[in-house]
Amino acid sequence: MITNKRIVDLRSDTVTLPTGSMRNAMADAELGDEAYGDDPNINELEELSAEISGKEAGLLVSSGTMGNLLAALLHCDRGEQMIVGHRAHCYIGEMGGASVHGGVIFRLVDNNERGMIDLDQVYELLNPKDEPQPKTGMVEIENTHGSTGGRVLTEADILKVSQLAHSHDVPVHIDGARIFNATVALDISLSDLAQSVDTVTFCLSKGLAAPFGSMLCGKREDIERARLIKKSLGGGLRQAGVMASAGIVALNEMVGRLAEDHQNAHNLAIGLAEVPGINLNPEDVETNQVYFNVNLINQSEILDELENNGVRGLILDEGWRFVTHYGITEEDIDWALSIIDKTFKKFV
Ligand SMILES: Cc1ncc(COP(=O)(O)O)c(C=O)c1O
Repeated sequence: MITNKRIVDLRSDTVTLPTGSMRNAMADAELGDEAYGDDPNINELEELSAEISGKEAGLLVSSGTMGNLLAALLHCDRGEQMIVGHRAHCYIGEMGGASVHGGVIFRLVDNNERGMIDLDQVYELLNPKDEPQPKTGMVEIENTHGSTGGRVLTEADILKVSQLAHSHDVPVHIDGARIFNATVALDISLSDLAQSVDTVTFCLSKGLAAPFGSMLCGKREDIERARLIKKSLGGGLRQAGVMASAGIVALNEMVGRLAEDHQNAHNLAIGLAEVPGINLNPEDVETNQVYFNVNLINQSEILDELENNGVRGLILDEGWRFVTHYGITEEDIDWALSIIDKTFKKFV
């Protein structure tokens, strides 16, 4: 039986579907073998990514996780440490890949409520007191910072990290899975925001709605080495221009519209703050992610009831999360808020 039940899916921006122009570009894409440098769309996407990020070169990889893993393997030798925030996605959400594949040690420093790392703690780790302390291979930061609610690091924040790390000859990598949400929120170009760092990853999927792929950008010599490491991980591609073509559309057409997602998230947060049982400060919502706490029992029951009523969200370790994206309209937000209000009132 076909049902036309309305669903507003706020679990993540990873649920986005490709746009019509992406599907057309994919259907029409001229293809070739990546291994021979023959795929025109992959080549164009890598050049475009390098240009947008202000770096010398770009590399198409399958996912944000693979981009971050390649950065770790590029910058850190076995037994070296990477300094990351204790709530970093690469530490809590990527299966420990840098340790598994590269023998890299995660050294944790505190993330504050905006996702910024504690620079005093970084300084201590960069200046080992004891000889046997592992060498630091890189410092990684995340922008926007997921588990603190899509918060934004500014150019000045990033520069502070880079200056400190570089004064010890340690490179800096940005996990920029959603860095375009940060550039739009700050009204700055990616090349300016990421100017001081050595490598940056960003995702073409998620808010930009492409069905596949992330980019790793940096110095040409680093990216050529990362290309070989990608191959060694089984990440070499063939006629992936069929997907790269959607990535080109994502970069050319989808960045500017993220402002709509931010506005929808802001409206959602304002509405949620009025719902009995929900605690949140709308001012904490800087991009497309709305995190909040619920001071009611039976939270998983409330979530299930919302799902039955057509609104999907998630309960994570950090609390409840709703994320706005390309598939969500202003009207969807109004509708979802009316469902959320009715549902929560049943549980207070
Ligand atoms: C901040 C951050 N970094 C990296 C990733 C990993 O991206 P992927 O799912 O493409 O591997 C995610 C995924 O949601 C993320 O939120």
